[in-house]
Amino acid sequence: NGTMQVNEKGHLEIGGCDTVELARTFGTPLYVLDEALFRQNCRDYYTHFTVRYGAEAVYAGKALLNLAVCRIVEEEGLGLDVVSGGELYTALKANFPAEKIFFHGNNKSSAELAMALETGVGRIVVDNMFELELLNRMAGEVGKKAAVILRLTPGIEAHTHEYIKTGQIDSKFGLVIENGQAMAGVRRALEMDGIELKGVHCHIGSQIFELDSYSQAAKIMMSFVYLVYRETGCLLGELDMGGGLGVYYAEGDKPRPIQEYADVLMKAVMEKASEYGIPVPKVIVEPGRSICGPAGTTLYTVGAIKNIPGIRKYVAVDGGMGDNPRPALYQARYEACLANKAGRQPEEVVSVAGKCCESGDMLIWDISLPAAEPGDILAVSCTGAYNYTMSMNYNRLPRPAMVLVGNGRAELINRRETYEDLIRTDLLPERLLNGS
Ligand code: LLP
Repeated sequence: NGTMQVNEKGHLEIGGCDTVELARTFGTPLYVLDEALFRQNCRDYYTHFTVRYGAEAVYAGKALLNLAVCRIVEEEGLGLDVVSGGELYTALKANFPAEKIFFHGNNKSSAELAMALETGVGRIVVDNMFELELLNRMAGEVGKKAAVILRLTPGIEAHTHEYIKTGQIDSKFGLVIENGQAMAGVRRALEMDGIELKGVHCHIGSQIFELDSYSQAAKIMMSFVYLVYRETGCLLGELDMGGGLGVYYAEGDKPRPIQEYADVLMKAVMEKASEYGIPVPKVIVEPGRSICGPAGTTLYTVGAIKNIPGIRKYVAVDGGMGDNPRPALYQARYEACLANKAGRQPEEVVSVAGKCCESGDMLIWDISLPAAEPGDILAVSCTGAYNYTMSMNYNRLPRPAMVLVGNGRAELINRRETYEDLIRTDLLPERLLNGS
């Protein structure tokens, strides 16, 4: 995958960098981001959606965001989807053009909406009626019109983990189409002075392999666009279909190419447009995982190894659920290799344990590896999405550093947290100060 290979020393190499050297130089755990692969995935979206269909790809920052990532995304011509004041702040600090930012979220605070209005983000994706009324009032107060996309619930069940599917009717997100809430929302938005309704949005879930789900969702959304046209005379010009394309984590995962995703989605939209005799709206997609996921690898150092003969061998590493909570949260599966023994054949089946004080902190159950010894470097693949952004300081473990690799060069894009960082927000009331 990408620029990953085994070098002459038998070490795993990414972007021309020996990962064993990376571990030595930057310490572990270490997030490694393959710049070429990240850029290639951005380009695939740009080529297959923008160049071929005039659609727009907006990178979902929740999957992986920092200043360097914002810069790369902008250089590759994609927009950016943010879901909080914090993500918006990061994007603006990286000089990401505000007009190319989409602001999502099901419960944006008034402070966040004010920030969006002030900085002039391109689109505010409004989730519910409370937000619509609030935004209309706030825009009115500052004499602006907010460019809005309304989030709808198309009633589609995507086949993915319970916690990451979002399109079904019983969901905290969006206005339901089926029971008339969506139409009521559109009518209200169209009569508001502070709102300029640009289009509608849906997101059916994440880590999706069945492209047919997109086709179905697009058809439902297009029927709604047509219904709005018939009932109000308003032709909504934008159709934002969210993100969700799945990636390969482990055996059994069958990712679909970005090109095929574009073709299936656009075909459904164009067919419906011609069936209804309405113009093809501008389509927007919001890929996160499929851009950054495969571009990330996490390096760990192997420490304690505990063998329970006849039962299981536990190989513990110096990170775990703190830097990758996905196995604990979603039973997510990962594959890994020993970076310093990458040329060798598997010799034993082991389970990789994290270092948090929880039995559930297991990164990988039952994986075949060459015989592991303390000091080995374990490389877990496809950790680019929802690892760094979901990392935490449980057990007061400092968050790892991240390096951007390419052409044999490695540059820090997040420095490792220090113990000092961990107490940065702690305050000691005077009465608790001791004599010293
Ligand atoms: N657009 C919207 C409105 C979303 O809610 C999401 C993801 C995306 C785009 C990007 O989806 P992607 O292309 O990355 O699948 N933490 C979970 C995933 C949560 C996804 C939330 N929304 C995980 O680690 O699997």
